[in-house]
Amino acid sequence: MSAETLSAEGDTRSFLGAIIRNPYQLGAIAPSSKAVARLAASVVPDTKGAVVVELGAGGGVISDAIRDRLPQGGRQLAVELNGDMVRHLRRSRPWLEVVAGDAGDLSQLLRRAGVARADAVISSLPWTLFHGDQQKHVLDEVSTVLAPGGTFSTVITLTVVPFRRFWRFRELLDRTFATVDTAGTVWLNVPPALVFSASTPLGTQGDG
Ligand SMILES: C[S@@+](CC[C@H](N)C(=O)[O-])C[C@H]1O[C@@H](n2cnc3c(N)ncnc32)[C@H](O)[C@@H]1O
Repeated sequence: MSAETLSAEGDTRSFLGAIIRNPYQLGAIAPSSKAVARLAASVVPDTKGAVVVELGAGGGVISDAIRDRLPQGGRQLAVELNGDMVRHLRRSRPWLEVVAGDAGDLSQLLRRAGVARADAVISSLPWTLFHGDQQKHVLDEVSTVLAPGGTFSTVITLTVVPFRRFWRFRELLDRTFATVDTAGTVWLNVPPALVFSASTPLGTQGDG
């Protein structure tokens, strides 16, 4: 068995273990597929020295896709709340700057890491487990740290589309960014997933 297969198995085992221990924090039934990871990471810019921040790195599949695209001299940080996943990422990916913490504290966490702005922010956070104020707060943090011309991408599984919290999140994307697009739908994922990409933050808006 190849080293890559063994490491993918380790990622999945660690991730499933964390889901069993803390399903409401993980918000998934399986890690993202490589196809989803590649689509989410397609917003990584090709500029030398780019800074890319991932939110909710989990088992690390999207971290790997970001690394594959990141130009030389770039900086890659992964913000993760779950302690088991933080340990797993640090053990399995010594090249990754793992920031243990809540995406809701993003600007403060990045400031502490010496990062002023991110050229891309890539999320697979469980948005529909967040209440409306929390969704808005995290999106405001993303728009605060995004560099001019930067892009935000986020993975959403199709299973959440019937729920009000998804539509609340979708509306907040439109209220937070001037441009919001569907980057694509990936059927080869459990469950199938959408990736949204957004750019040009509109500035902090009232909640009205
Ligand atoms: C749906 S999983 C995605 C994991 C992985 N990136 C993937 O695509 O397979 C969501 C991840 O976000 C993390 N998470 C949940 N709430 C978070 C928060 N407020 N801040 C940072 N990470 C969070 C979870 O611990 C979990 O690892």
